[in-house]
Amino acid sequence: MDREGWNRRYEGRELIWTAQPNRFLAAEVAGLAPGRALDLGSGEGRNAVWLAEHGWDVTTVDFSEVGLAKGAKLADERGVRVSWVLADLTDHLPPAGAFDLTAVLYVHLPAGERRKMLAAAAASVAPGGVLLVVGHDTSNIEEGYGGPQDPAILFTPEDVAGELPELEIERAERVRRNATSPEGEEREAIDALVRARKPPPPEPPLRAGAGSRRRCPASSERSRTPAARRREVGGAWRSPRRPGDRRPRSPAA
Ligand SMILES: C[S@@+](CC[C@H](N)C(=O)[O-])C[C@H]1O[C@@H](n2cnc3c(N)ncnc32)[C@H](O)[C@@H]1O
Repeated sequence: MDREGWNRRYEGRELIWTAQPNRFLAAEVAGLAPGRALDLGSGEGRNAVWLAEHGWDVTTVDFSEVGLAKGAKLADERGVRVSWVLADLTDHLPPAGAFDLTAVLYVHLPAGERRKMLAAAAASVAPGGVLLVVGHDTSNIEEGYGGPQDPAILFTPEDVAGELPELEIERAERVRRNATSPEGEEREAIDALVRARKPPPPEPPLRAGAGSRRRCPASSERSRTPAARRREVGGAWRSPRRPGDRRPRSPAA
């Protein structure tokens, strides 16, 4: 859908996506220490406002000024500050290495544009920071419920993981959530979720005589490339807890 289409969709006073954060965002962020966050394709601001309420310094990007205005209103009502940026994700370049968390939730673009957007999203993550991508999985058309029905704009966790060569994939999975049809039927939607981390910079070598000669397992872990680590574990995995991560809280949704 183009910018005008999204503006028309957001015209009404009611929130299309509710004021609740996406449940996967809330769960994945629960263990992270708040810092700077970037929400790409922020819509009506539900996720950005929730992050700001949880201590994050949030910048959003969307090409719908109507969606951004609704987000700004929600932020005012909740008493939090968020920076709202009007831009097209197909050519927008956020500041490189600036964000501890970059989130891309339910932004469905043709594959070529998605790759470009994900490259910019990955570049925006600071060393040690996290990129979270969630959207309707390709299999949702046949096996799930709701969402866009055009396979050309949907993706799988494998598609996204393969488009993030510089990041370490921590989780790449199909995830399911309950959805209710307009007729009140309980249904299940299938999403693709990828959580990836930009490796922290390698530690400077120890000066001779400054310590033990044995290699520290943690720093040898850091010095391997994301691709090498991926090969070792093979596909979806969760990495060990890192400095800066907090113990998980129960998600708000
Ligand atoms: C399905 S909504 C998701 C909104 C939000 N991420 C959420 O989870 O509530 C998709 C959003 O992506 C935005 N969007 C789609 N294509 C875009 C583009 N090329 N540039 C900027 N924003 C775009 C739309 O305006 C819309 O707000």
